Amino acid sequence: LTQLTLALLKPDLAANSVKVNKVFAHIQQNDFQILKHKQLLWSKSDAEAFYGEHRGKFFFERLCGYMTSGHFHALILEKPNAITDWRALIGPTHPPRARINAPGTLRSLYGMTDTRNSFHGSDAVETARNEIKFFFPEFDIEKWEQDQ
Ligand code: CMP
Repeated sequence: LTQLTLALLKPDLAANSVKVNKVFAHIQQNDFQILKHKQLLWSKSDAEAFYGEHRGKFFFERLCGYMTSGHFHALILEKPNAITDWRALIGPTHPPRARINAPGTLRSLYGMTDTRNSFHGSDAVETARNEIKFFFPEFDIEKWEQDQ
């Protein structure tokens, strides 16, 4: 059964168009369809709204600072098991650890630190829905589900 997930290519990666092109090729080689794609530039309050669940954590300010440091890409990806498969493709949160434990994953290849980890992927069906609505309010997810 096909599924949607929300992916982000974060500002450090988005700043490098050569890397962005390689990542798009990598995504397509792994059989994800890119249903929607947009580029955004966040204000501080946008970042704080999206990452509200992390408010109060030691890395919250750093995370919001990073996510407002430049433009980034949001994508709706479609594939059977898109949520799990995308998180497997990006690898663990911490890129130096990913380079040891999950070589070849996108974070192992492109990520820098546990904050500047270059990628995001929804962690569950309900989060994917909410995140898709957050970034693509114009996308009719109910209609997409009915059409499957
Ligand atoms: P993401 O999966 O997009 O959502 C939460 C983000 O918080 C995560 O990517 C990282 O960028 C950041 N993050 C998570 N854990 C840590 C941590 N231990 N230290 C610093 N940043 C973190």
